[in-house]
Amino acid sequence: FFSFKHYFAQDELPYDDDQEGLNEQIVFTFSHVVAENTPKGLAAAKFAELVEKKSNGIIKIVVFPNGSLYSDIEEISALQEGQVDIIAPSTSKLGMISPTWGVLDLPFIFPNDDAINEGLDGPIGESLLQSLQNSGMKGMAHWTNGLKQFTTNQGPIIHPDDVAGQTFRIMQSDVLKTQYDYLNALSIKESFNSTYDLLDSGKVDGEENTISNIYSKKFYNLQKHLTISNHGYLGYAVIMNDKVWGAQSAETKRILSEAIEETSEWNRKQAIEMNKEQLESIKENSNIQIHELTQAEKQAWLERFAPIYDSLAPQIGEKLIFDIKKLKE
Ligand code: LMR
Repeated sequence: FFSFKHYFAQDELPYDDDQEGLNEQIVFTFSHVVAENTPKGLAAAKFAELVEKKSNGIIKIVVFPNGSLYSDIEEISALQEGQVDIIAPSTSKLGMISPTWGVLDLPFIFPNDDAINEGLDGPIGESLLQSLQNSGMKGMAHWTNGLKQFTTNQGPIIHPDDVAGQTFRIMQSDVLKTQYDYLNALSIKESFNSTYDLLDSGKVDGEENTISNIYSKKFYNLQKHLTISNHGYLGYAVIMNDKVWGAQSAETKRILSEAIEETSEWNRKQAIEMNKEQLESIKENSNIQIHELTQAEKQAWLERFAPIYDSLAPQIGEKLIFDIKKLKE
């Protein structure tokens, strides 16, 4: 399976200090769990393409999509153990590494796409990436997907009370679980790629995700209702194994950094367009009932979720919550 040479930190460096530049093939593996036609899938492919071009084909990034190497539940430890070089888990899954990441899971933390960029570009985004350092990981960038929506097979979700008694598949995040607790709903933390079967078998009534994930994994074929609620953020931290990063030459680091920066810039515009286009495709290709929350309906959700900010402040960090809320003003 790994027929190519795979450099781990302890291997001989593929870099000759006597000569400027790179002279031997370097291969990095990049594992992620979503489909290729999604904001993350396309960003990973773009990153690989840019790195290859900038290094004249010397550095290759082999991308494994759809959880074909590791599921979202396995990928973080696989990265820490050096079984894969790069991953891009949703930030929700990093709360188990450092609870500060939970700030991005707070309900309605970002009112729109511009606020996401504002929040992650500055010191907040940087300090979150830095927090991975102690766990053997080099946080390289934030990529976005967008805002999450609800889907369900029970009645339409309009008011927070509509969710009571339903069971939802959620990501591995205590902050997300707390939200379902506040809605008197059950939530189960299962892997992304088990979601289709969970919905199909009726083990869960619904799930929450961005349009691009609902579209590319065809959840809309299994669900009766979709609520455009924009109630939560879904984005990714692109992370490299810290030892692998540390073992690279200055030239390789420069190429990787430049490529990731260009990709991140591109990903932002691309994610917004993709979610918009795919919502139109869902409308055209399915009978799912779509409801977009009105401002008044959204207000009821904000009120229901308001106490969560205070109750989770001790674990996430009061200052962080204060700083991120200030961005909205
Ligand atoms: C999910 O688990 O629902 C998402 O995080 C999947 C992803 O990586 O977008």
